[in-house]
Amino acid sequence: MKTQDQLTTAKTQDVVTVLNQLLADYQIYYQNLRGLHWNVTGNMFFSLHEKYENYYNEAAEVVDQLAERILTIGGKPAHTFADYLSVSGLKELDDDISDGKKGVEAVLENSKYLLGLIRRGSEVASAAGDEGTVALLSELTGSTEKRIWMLTAFLK
Ligand SMILES: [Fe+2]
Repeated sequence: MKTQDQLTTAKTQDVVTVLNQLLADYQIYYQNLRGLHWNVTGNMFFSLHEKYENYYNEAAEVVDQLAERILTIGGKPAHTFADYLSVSGLKELDDDISDGKKGVEAVLENSKYLLGLIRRGSEVASAAGDEGTVALLSELTGSTEKRIWMLTAFLK
């Protein structure tokens, strides 16, 4: 177990960078889910409207965990959308996606991208000896894998 001081190394900066990347991507993911929640129509309206709400509430919780982890290890979490958009690898869903299947496909695609980044974050945190971040990202890996499984099942 490392002390707070021992975590303040050059490698910690790499962890902060990847966590800020994740933070930016989760904020875009959150806003994408908001758009889907608002715009969905059709015979799956009730189930998807509610499911998107569950997902964006989870995403909001993750956003807070990521930002507070960044602070815990001595970094500064980005908080403006201008910053998020400049680094995010996720595309904003700018079309009004009302179709249930297309919406779920978009969430699945976003989730797969996030999973890749979470795994990269785990590697960076591991190399930095940052067990706290590894633990946070491990939990996130499991829940994201589960969501990917469920979304894939939905689309079959
Ligand atoms: Fe709502």
